[in-house]
Amino acid sequence: MRAETERLTLRPLEQRDRADLERIMGDEQVRRFFPTRASSEDVDRFLNRVWQEEADYGFCFGAAEWKANGRLAGIIGMARFDEPLRAATGAEVEIGWQLDPAFWGQGVAPEGAQAWLDYGWRELGLREVVAITAVPNRPSQRVMEKLGMVRDEARDFDHPRVPEGHALRRHVLYRIGNPLV
Ligand SMILES: CC(C)(COP(=O)(O)OP(=O)(O)OC[C@H]1O[C@@H](n2cnc3c(N)ncnc32)[C@H](O)[C@@H]1OP(=O)(O)O)[C@@H](O)C(=O)NCCC(=O)NCCS
Repeated sequence: MRAETERLTLRPLEQRDRADLERIMGDEQVRRFFPTRASSEDVDRFLNRVWQEEADYGFCFGAAEWKANGRLAGIIGMARFDEPLRAATGAEVEIGWQLDPAFWGQGVAPEGAQAWLDYGWRELGLREVVAITAVPNRPSQRVMEKLGMVRDEARDFDHPRVPEGHALRRHVLYRIGNPLV
């Protein structure tokens, strides 16, 4: 997916983003609501998954580049759930974000994510997009609310990859339907 918003260039992730991704995905603040910080191997696995899914389905999480200076602000995008998450959520496609803390608090995630939703409705013809996060992750839930997504409390679930008893296991699910269909 390639698009321009007022402040962002949205484009596929590339090998040249690797060092920035390692810094962002390994950052303690960024990963405050994740069970772990990403290791170098996790970043490799993430990038390989992204490139494989772009080849298979035509989209996956992408780069959000700050137009003014070309810096990587973070990851914004949509991806298909794998089987365990499909079973846990009853959904097919999620939207998500992880930004460098230097870019927080300026509406960057909502700006980039709105362009991704538009792409999902117009180009992919999706019927529904969901977003999931751990119950205490209010900043991420605020982004969902700004996008017009609505929490479906009946679809709260335990994340299949977070260990039983872990404080971040319980997840909320927000959804939005395609306004064009
Ligand atoms: C969630 C995240 C993408 C929000 O992006 P953003 O571009 O800052 O979004 P916004 O500017 O719209 O702010 C959203 C909320 O973040 C919180 N927030 C804003 N600036 C913040 C800061 N400096 N520190 C902590 N939280 C902050 C506020 O709750 C804000 O809600 P408000 O606008 O009603 O005050 C960003 O905080 C992030 O990358 N977090 C870590 C990764 C993560 O948790 N991703 C989601 C995993 S499901």
